[in-house]
Amino acid sequence: MTTTQGLRLIVAPNVGEVVRLAGNRIQAGLRAKPQGFVLGTATGGTMEPLYAHLAWRETASRMLDVDADLGGFEHVSLRNIAATFGLDEYFGVPQAFYGQTYRAFMELHLFSKVGLSNNTHLPDWRINDPEQARLACQAYEELIRSVGGIDLQLLGLGGNGHIAFNEPFSSFASRTRLIGLDRRTVVDNARYFLSPDESRGLGVEPGKSPYEKMVSGMWTDRQRAFFELVLNERVPNAAMTMGIGTILEARALLMLVTGAAKRAALHAMLFGPITEGVPATSLRTHSDALVLADREAIDDEVAELIGLPSDPEATLEGVVID
Ligand code: PGA
Repeated sequence: MTTTQGLRLIVAPNVGEVVRLAGNRIQAGLRAKPQGFVLGTATGGTMEPLYAHLAWRETASRMLDVDADLGGFEHVSLRNIAATFGLDEYFGVPQAFYGQTYRAFMELHLFSKVGLSNNTHLPDWRINDPEQARLACQAYEELIRSVGGIDLQLLGLGGNGHIAFNEPFSSFASRTRLIGLDRRTVVDNARYFLSPDESRGLGVEPGKSPYEKMVSGMWTDRQRAFFELVLNERVPNAAMTMGIGTILEARALLMLVTGAAKRAALHAMLFGPITEGVPATSLRTHSDALVLADREAIDDEVAELIGLPSDPEATLEGVVID
């Protein structure tokens, strides 16, 4: 650990504070480049409170005097963002399941809420031919280059240390590409492709991964056959994802890590060896990476290594990991 260069870590008391700080960071980016700011977007549960915060801030700043609370600067509308680029998108989603695409997620949680309609890019979910996907991934890279690159890339952290859909052992030099998903990832994702009744029929709480139930061996033959059908006919087993090399080319990275389920991955990312086995450790090779974590995501060992204050309301800043 030093205090000069490397990945910067801030530990905030809770999710609300994490997203407020992330909002400030995005605002700082926009202020520094009021025209032409390019934001890289991410999807997933971690991003939902961030986008809700950004949407609230966009509305509240027009009606209330909230700027003083939010860093003391005048709010710059997110409509000034020149372009957005999503990290990844499912490949081969049936039409009827548009609602589960990352395009739909972004429209629902951010774009429609803040009035961003032009130049919001994600890999095209309608593509279902591998060759077409290969060409589209190349075109995506060219499009990023043509707008001058990404200024600030948002990132979540996978429980296994993945970033975007770059699973462990993806090359740090990888580019935007079509990638097969681990069977485990596909089974976990099935929760988004089951109706609540179907979930209950499998003995799984709606919205929860069927993985534990599947491996418990407690399903009847009919339940097992139904679930196989769901996997085969609904749940994508591939995705288009920015590569790690693509992500590392963004001028700045902003990763959000919240919740106890991320403890082991965050620990490995911060203090394990830099290795393709943990894609997120690649952030330590970037010159401007900021990680915002909540206390829940910090295990005891990391707390000790970074000197986390015992006061649960305290925010720890100024930690640099290299
Ligand atoms: P999550 O996903 O925000 O839904 O936990 C993060 C990720 O896998 O990148």
